[in-house]
Amino acid sequence: CGIIGIVGNSSVQDRLIESLKRLEYRGYDSAGIAAQVNGKLERRRAPGKLRELEAVVAKEPLNATTGIGHTRWATHGAPTERNAHPHIVGRVAVVHNGIIENFAELKAELIATGREFQSDTDTEVVAHLLDAELATGLSPREAFAATLARLRGAFALCVLIGGEDEVILAARNGPPLALGYGQGEMYVGSDGLALGPFTNRIAYLQDGDWAVLTHNGAEVYDASGAPADRPIRTVPSSAVLMEKGNYRHFMEKEIHDQPEGCQRTIAAYVDTLGGRVAVPGDLDFAKLERVQIVACGTSYIAGVIGRYLIEQLADLPVDVEIASEFRYRDPAIRPASLVIAMSQSGETADTLAALRYCTERGMQSAAIVNATESTIAREVDVVWPIHCGPEIGVASTKAFTAQVSVLISIAIAAAKARGRLSEAEEQRLVKVLLEAPRLIAEAIGLEDAIRDIAVEVSKAKDVLYLGRGPMSALALEGALKLKEISYIHAEGYAAGELKHGPIALVDDQTPIIILAPFDAWFEKSASNMSEVMARGGQVVFITDTEGAKHAPAGAKVVVTAPSSDPLISALVMSAPIQLLAYHVAVLKGADVDQPRNLAKSVTVE
Ligand code: G6P
Repeated sequence: CGIIGIVGNSSVQDRLIESLKRLEYRGYDSAGIAAQVNGKLERRRAPGKLRELEAVVAKEPLNATTGIGHTRWATHGAPTERNAHPHIVGRVAVVHNGIIENFAELKAELIATGREFQSDTDTEVVAHLLDAELATGLSPREAFAATLARLRGAFALCVLIGGEDEVILAARNGPPLALGYGQGEMYVGSDGLALGPFTNRIAYLQDGDWAVLTHNGAEVYDASGAPADRPIRTVPSSAVLMEKGNYRHFMEKEIHDQPEGCQRTIAAYVDTLGGRVAVPGDLDFAKLERVQIVACGTSYIAGVIGRYLIEQLADLPVDVEIASEFRYRDPAIRPASLVIAMSQSGETADTLAALRYCTERGMQSAAIVNATESTIAREVDVVWPIHCGPEIGVASTKAFTAQVSVLISIAIAAAKARGRLSEAEEQRLVKVLLEAPRLIAEAIGLEDAIRDIAVEVSKAKDVLYLGRGPMSALALEGALKLKEISYIHAEGYAAGELKHGPIALVDDQTPIIILAPFDAWFEKSASNMSEVMARGGQVVFITDTEGAKHAPAGAKVVVTAPSSDPLISALVMSAPIQLLAYHVAVLKGADVDQPRNLAKSVTVE
């Protein structure tokens, strides 16, 4: 969920909505705003995307100068209007991101005192508790502190109190909250981006902090209730962010942004003049015994590709694990190891928890993130930023290839530090890496051919993606992209595993997409292709120029990407699978940038 609050000097309605647009990547199941109108709390809410809320306020404007807003990714309670935030109880309006874990016991307790609930959310207990504390005669601050002391779980909260016209209360325990300082105005939001249109002077609350915002600034208190000083930083303006340019969708634009995004990223990790890698931070890869990568979703798949490269080049053992599994299974930790948290947003709750599990046990830590002001970035020893610019489409594309670009650089750096690369070999690999943006651009040039294939694939009920080596990871990504945005059931498999199960799915209705550049695994993948065709399978063979010359006859379609060194083939082969998912989704009329049920940044577990 995304939250925003403004203590303003002029009307806030449109400004709240503008901020919510910037927060929609955090969820878009419903949206709402609340404000003080002549000392009384009023709200407007609507299920569905933000445009539904815009339609509501167009009919019934909310004229006020202090207000809060919310865009929801549903956890407790269906995405209906009655479950939409803000929740108003008595004198309190509240918006919340996260989960109140003890809500059931609090709710039972409140019901026992005669309170009635209007929604199925966990959030409403916060409004009731605070209203009950106020009713005992406590001041808003005292009541807020008393309420926070009762809550367990992860939350970012923003609160209005009826009658306290120019005050917003805010608290953070887990999900991030940024305070924005304006000219006689104050803002609070889930990230700096949301505050971008109003100010670039930002401070971040820390875990356990709560704050009282007025026109004159913010008083911040830490978990013990002591006044806290959180530094105000001037952040670069993010005004350009929301432009789609000539593209229909952000995802389309972001696919096309990849040559530039990767180029910027790679430039930050190599010394182009010297032909060497120059990875930021002072980690000694030679002393490491192991690397543990933790991540979710597409970031996890980038990590799997990283494992192939780091182990092969640097002879450094790498484990990659889905963060939600890792954090709860009591994994064995060795001190001489490095945890790498991979996260576009830097806010994914599971990834953050997995990272903390490792750092609390003495591991060194690094993060590969897009959002360098994020919680994950602020908690690690070394930040390895990707430089692809903000990613808006929910399905990750340019962040993925930028993450892989960083991992390639790290693999080379680790190989060098561990005495596995001569200077000449390092220079060769860096040269290969620098060619990646041009080859990605060439692969994007296959778009017309891919659009034709999309017509066929869009009719399928199931799709199977196969590959070996790094392409087995990319097969997972190809399948994930299709599922996410076109809602076609797809599975990604290591091609060698085909005979152990998925081959049973092969029939003439199921497109089998095989990713096979001309690398060490090519012949094996080509054999798998023959096995599939022998059983009537319709093969889409995505290969490269060299592979096309050696491809077995009989594929329904052969897509020929430019040939590249295996070091960067995952980058080059990404564009075709992304474009395929994109065009299938467009053909199916799906909501490409905001697929159903998903959110871009998931700050709950
Ligand atoms: C969500 C998004 C995915 C993303 C995953 C991890 O599920 O829909 O596209 O890969 O979160 O996000 P992160 O920000 O940690 O990379």
